Amino acid sequence: MAFTVKPSTLISLLVVAIALLASAAPSAHAQQFPGLGGGGGGILRNIFNLFRIRGTIFCSLNGTMASDINGTATPPFGNALVQLRCGTNVITASATDPSGLFSILMNPLQVIMSTLLNNCNLMVVTPLTSCNAQLPSIGRLFSPLQFNGSSLLGFLNIANLIPGGFSFQLPQPRE
Ligand SMILES: *[C@@H]1O[C@H](CO)[C@@H](O)[C@H](O)[C@H]1NC(C)=O
Ligand SMILES: *[C@@H]1O[C@H](CO)[C@@H](O)[C@H](O)[C@H]1NC(C)=O
Ligand SMILES: *[C@@H]1O[C@H](CO)[C@@H](O)[C@H](O)[C@H]1NC(C)=O
Repeated sequence: MAFTVKPSTLISLLVVAIALLASAAPSAHAQQFPGLGGGGGGILRNIFNLFRIRGTIFCSLNGTMASDINGTATPPFGNALVQLRCGTNVITASATDPSGLFSILMNPLQVIMSTLLNNCNLMVVTPLTSCNAQLPSIGRLFSPLQFNGSSLLGFLNIANLIPGGFSFQLPQPRE
């Protein structure tokens, strides 16, 4: 699979890498994953240097590329702001590119894997009307996160996370 990153992404990657090299001894890493010791899921016990959350969002009520009745493909949802939320906290955000692709890189020191998988969601903040005026102006696309294996980038062990599946939700009282 082609590895495409924007220069700005590469720079933040390097910054994170340097910061990790400079500051973190292996034993300090291990202490960042207190919740992952017990039970199965051996791969989750690996020590990751980066979390990479990537996905593609399409302009539809479930964010997928369903074709309509005439077989016209749903366009991607470009320029959409995607927030990573854990509980009600916005941890970080990223905008989709014109092909609907977004990518979020996170330092594992910020949040642990079990929290990401159990307590965090992706929320598309930009209303669906901005890509299709016939879609609802209220309500947002939400998705939980799913672990999709790890990959090596140089000396970095990257945990790949993807949207588990977007669904449309009307505003929550606290939103
Ligand atoms: C998304 O919605 C379309 C129609 O609105 C449906 O055909 C498709 O199965 C849905 N996809 C998922 C993953 O729910
Ligand atoms: C499908 O094509 C027909 C005929 O061109 C058109 O009237 C209809 O609006 C189209 N439906 C959709 C969902 O685009
Ligand atoms: C999940 O990982 C597999 C194997 O690396 C890859 O082929 C697939 O494209 C990934 N899925 C997504 C949605 O990125």
